[in-house]
Amino acid sequence: MTARIIDGKAIAQEVRAEWKARADALKARGIVPGLAVIIVGEDPASKVYVANKVKACAELGLHSEHIVMPADTSEAALLGRIAALNADPKIHGILVQLPVPRHIDSGKVLEAISPDKDVDGFHPVNVGALATGNMRFAPCTPYGAMKLLEKSGVSIEGKHAVVIGRSNIVGKPMAMLLLQANATVTICTSKTVDLAKFTRDADILVVATGKPKMITGDMIKPGAAVIDVGINRMADGKLCGDVDFDSAKEVAGWITPVPGGVGPMTITMLVANTVRSAERTVG
Ligand code: GUN
Repeated sequence: MTARIIDGKAIAQEVRAEWKARADALKARGIVPGLAVIIVGEDPASKVYVANKVKACAELGLHSEHIVMPADTSEAALLGRIAALNADPKIHGILVQLPVPRHIDSGKVLEAISPDKDVDGFHPVNVGALATGNMRFAPCTPYGAMKLLEKSGVSIEGKHAVVIGRSNIVGKPMAMLLLQANATVTICTSKTVDLAKFTRDADILVVATGKPKMITGDMIKPGAAVIDVGINRMADGKLCGDVDFDSAKEVAGWITPVPGGVGPMTITMLVANTVRSAERTVG
């Protein structure tokens, strides 16, 4: 059996078109959805991510502000900037790219963003809202992974979903979203004993470990849907996921490639959250 390849680029285009129509409808009422993206410091990967986020907003005709702050920015200065954006009616979404430099407390920063403009879904109020089934902003990467499953026709209800990774950005919110969709959810970590025992029982397997190609075909249940959240750069410069694509695709029923799987969805769902936030301002 060879898996169906889940084409993240194509699905992202389709989902973006849906949200562009919603953004256009708002614009017709005089509201341009606006996103502010703040980057502190010079992390090269973060710079690329932030530039892509701002570019996606421009492509959909959203207002965007790209705020670059030097690495030695004080915590107080960053919090001041966030407070100003919280009060700015042109801005419906605020994102501070993580990681921030070590002298800044990321928890304080995330709590300073108004929960109504927290398009990353990282504020404790929004984390709690997701956990209690009253979701307002789902974190973009797991939200995008859920969309990939939905658009590919993978049924979730009653299925065993296994998430490997427990980060606040991916693993934990992914588990919450799957639970909300009535999956039976197991969360595994790097400490899990006999990981393959769990992965081989997964109807849906979401891998977010940051370890290149660690999940191989022999660890996958035949016919499973495999969502690979990893992006790793190999010694030869090529990108690969946390799943060994070549062996996994011979066993899985569906699989996301890297690149071109989950990646394009993350930014798409950021745009979606920003438009949704702007919609809420008009009821
Ligand atoms: N760093 C890595 N992923 C993310 C993300 O989804 N949001 C933010 N703000 N920072 C990140």
